[in-house]
Amino acid sequence: MKATPSSSIPAQDLAHTGCSPRKFRARNLHQAGRHWVRGDACATAFFNALSAVFPVGEAFMIEALKPWRDRVPEPLASDVAAFIVQEAAHTREHGAMNKALIASGYDMAPLDRAIRGFVSTFANAGDITKLGATMCIEHLTAIVASELMLRPHHLQGSDPEMQKLWFWHGIEEIEHKAVAFDTWMFATAHWSPMRRWLVRSALMVAVSISFFINRTRGQVELMRQDGFGWTKALPMILRNGFAKGGVGRAVLKPWFQFLKPGFHPWQIDDRQLIAKGEAMLKALQIITEGELQLRPADRQDQTVSRQIQAA
Ligand SMILES: [Fe+2]
Ligand SMILES: [Fe+2]
Repeated sequence: MKATPSSSIPAQDLAHTGCSPRKFRARNLHQAGRHWVRGDACATAFFNALSAVFPVGEAFMIEALKPWRDRVPEPLASDVAAFIVQEAAHTREHGAMNKALIASGYDMAPLDRAIRGFVSTFANAGDITKLGATMCIEHLTAIVASELMLRPHHLQGSDPEMQKLWFWHGIEEIEHKAVAFDTWMFATAHWSPMRRWLVRSALMVAVSISFFINRTRGQVELMRQDGFGWTKALPMILRNGFAKGGVGRAVLKPWFQFLKPGFHPWQIDDRQLIAKGEAMLKALQIITEGELQLRPADRQDQTVSRQIQAA
């Protein structure tokens, strides 16, 4: 079954989906090689520039949600708790990935400084503003994760251990994509709809501009370390992101959807992509961790595994 996000989900069906942290430990990332996405320095730089900022960025989001954990009602309170557990695990595993990137010769310090600079701009901000920024970042990560699940060609042919890390992370980003949004809606319940929409939209534009500029600069820096001058690297990065099939181009439509009055993250109904991502992750685990250990119940997964190998 082909999973296709749609915006046709009726408001009354915006059901609580529940978040369940999955046990995951990345393995052997240091063996992935410097250009672990098909040997392509530019495609690799896209993922590496994101990974570079996850530990600090996700720690910021955890701190933004913590003050609300005991204030929001159930079932949102449980989802906030699960969100914190999920993001803490993402922080840990991308820390491991970033160590592997450093071991492969990259200097990640400039990218680390950039994300610390972004986070520091919120040092004196109030709880609702930090939560609002988190809500916007969560929309960005969710639409990228959805695209990676929908069109796996982005990671096709790349190191399988890296693929497992990104699919696992992507599954949980889709799953908890509404948690910060719902918490922000709870926190701003006393605001008028117009004020909520204006602040939400302004925050999204500001966060997205910063995100785009800093992630692009991060990619340029990583490609500079690979020997590409910025005049060569920048067009390659923009083409990789925004030419046909690029992640940036694919997420433009769901990015704009966030600006609609009355938007809710689950109006983009990509719940099927969680199951699809889990199947892809399981297939990769079978490939990398040994088919000999398969039980009869896992036979169906072998079919998926063959499909991925054949693709
Ligand atoms: Fe995450
Ligand atoms: Fe997240």
